[in-house]
Amino acid sequence: MESLYGGATHRRVTILDLAAAKKRGEKWAMLTSYESMTAQIFDEAGIPVLLVGDSAGNNFLGGENTIAVTVDELIPLTRAVVRGSKRALVIADLPFGSYESSVEQAIATSTRFFKEAGAMAVKLEGAHIATVEKLVASGIPVMGHLGLTPQALHQLGGYRVQGRTDGDSILEAAIALEKAGAFAIVLELIPGELAQKITNALSIPTVGIGAGNSCDAQVLVWTDLMGITKNPPKLAKAYRNLRAEMLAATTEYANDVRSGTFPGEEQTFH
Ligand code: KIV
Repeated sequence: MESLYGGATHRRVTILDLAAAKKRGEKWAMLTSYESMTAQIFDEAGIPVLLVGDSAGNNFLGGENTIAVTVDELIPLTRAVVRGSKRALVIADLPFGSYESSVEQAIATSTRFFKEAGAMAVKLEGAHIATVEKLVASGIPVMGHLGLTPQALHQLGGYRVQGRTDGDSILEAAIALEKAGAFAIVLELIPGELAQKITNALSIPTVGIGAGNSCDAQVLVWTDLMGITKNPPKLAKAYRNLRAEMLAATTEYANDVRSGTFPGEEQTFH
């Protein structure tokens, strides 16, 4: 694969392609996706990695945060993203409570995502080093996630910037995750300088979200990117205002039905 955006379309992106991109200094974008329509669009746009994030819990299923979403809820979403895409590497996020108790629990949950949904990798929050080692040894590629780990929301006391005073422990955890075999690490809501230090220290890609511009890749929640999220976080950038577009289209449709202009002759069968 010559480049992640312009490369081969006859096969899926693999973790080896991501490692090669880091070596040649190519940056890339990752997006969340929770169903097949957006997966199709993002795949067509060349996004090489799609994450079925546990952020589906609040951005798709109406929860307050990511804590309540379950494996049973995320499996059909992951299956839909795999079905909707042809080229992207699809990563399943392991939800809160589905991997922390033991290595065995993590393997059983990941196996479900692989067998029932066709996921090609999993992501898990925190420095669960022994678990990552065992997953990787079992043939399951793992993406780590450090800094703000939203599943630990109540332990952290809110969505706060991490690593301002304990940057070294995040760096150490990142190095340990790489050693354990993780193929990439999400760095969420940490100072840009710390993200740069971690990125330079690792040979695997870092994927930033609210972590400055030095990471090897960036990730956004797709509803933030499109301007659908009602109160988006400061770390996000809305590239469009689809909330306004969708609101306008819906109002127009409702008015057309009321006034009798929809359906028109074009949508009528004779
Ligand atoms: O669930 C999610 O969307 C995530 C990304 C923000 C990295 O974990």
